Amino acid sequence: MKIYRHIHEMQSASRFIRNNNQRLGFVPTMGALHEGHLSLVRAAKEQCDVVAVSIFVNPTQFGPNEDFTKYPRTFEHDCELLEKEGVDLIFAPASEEMYPQESVAWVTVESLSDKLCGRSRPGHFRGVTTIVSKLFHIVEPDAAFFGQKDAAQLAIIRRMTKDLNFPVEIVGCPIVREADGLAMSSRNTYLSPDERKRALALYSCLLEIKKQFGNGEAGCAKLIAVGKEVLLQEPSIRLDYLEIVDADTLNSLQSITGNALAAVAAFVGTTRLIDNAFLVSA
Ligand code: PAJ
Repeated sequence: MKIYRHIHEMQSASRFIRNNNQRLGFVPTMGALHEGHLSLVRAAKEQCDVVAVSIFVNPTQFGPNEDFTKYPRTFEHDCELLEKEGVDLIFAPASEEMYPQESVAWVTVESLSDKLCGRSRPGHFRGVTTIVSKLFHIVEPDAAFFGQKDAAQLAIIRRMTKDLNFPVEIVGCPIVREADGLAMSSRNTYLSPDERKRALALYSCLLEIKKQFGNGEAGCAKLIAVGKEVLLQEPSIRLDYLEIVDADTLNSLQSITGNALAAVAAFVGTTRLIDNAFLVSA
C-alpha cells in the first residue's frame, strides 16, 4: 500500500493506473475510520481494479465554533485498517498543500447546500463540494463511494457531479450501524457511556416514523410529530432538525411520495449526530 502526501505523487499514480486501463475507485474520508468507512472500501474493491482512499480533515467544512481541532486523528490505525482491506493507495495531503494561502476559488451547489445540515451549518457544504472537486481533479477516479449516512452530502455531490460534468460515477452505500442501531460515526467517540445510550433516540425516532408510515400514515406533519415525541422523551437531547424530504432535491414533502427520506440531526450533550431512513412503500 502506497501512502502519498503530495498532489503531484497522487496525480502521476492516477495517470499510471489509467494508462493501464484499470478502473480506479476512490473513497474520500476524514480518517478516524470505522466499519462505515470500510464498507465503502469493500464496495470499491468489488467494483474496481485499484482503490484509493483519501484521509484529510478538511478545515473549510467546519464552522468557527465546530470541532475541527478536536476531530479524532488516528492516521496510523487508519493505515493498518486500510492495509488489511487491501487498499492500494492512500492520499493524505497537508492542509497547506490543499489550500495554499492565495486560493480563493469555491464550488457551491446552490439551493441544496442551504437545506438540512446546510441550514444549521452555514458554509459546510461549500467546504465539502470544494474539497471533493479538488480531490476528484487530483485523483481522477472512475467511481467514487459515499455513505448514505450523510444523505444531504450524497445528494449534493451527485448534483455537483452532474451539473459540472465530472466523469465520475457516484456510488451511494447503505448506512452501517452498531449492533443496537446507532449509526456509526467518527463523532460517536465524543459520547460518554451515558450519552451513548441516549443517542439511540435518533434511530428510535426514525424507526417510529417508519412504523407509523407502514401503518398507513402518509402525512409528513403527522409523521414528524410522532418522531419528535420519541426524541423529546430523552430530555438531554436537543433537536436540530427532523424533516421528511425528497432524497434528490432535499425539498420538504407534505406527504410521502417517491424517494422520501426522514432525516434527523440532534445534539447529545455537545455532540451533534445525524441519521436518516428511507420511507418506501412495501
Ligand atoms: P467522513 O465523515 O470521514 O466520511 C467519509 C465517508 O464515509 C462519507 O461518504 C460518509 O457518508 C461515509 N460514512 C460515514 N459513516 C458511515 C456509516 N455509518 N455508514 C456508511 N457510510 C458512512 O464525509 C466526509 O468524511 C467528508 O465530508 C468528505 C466527503 C471526506 C469531504 O471532506
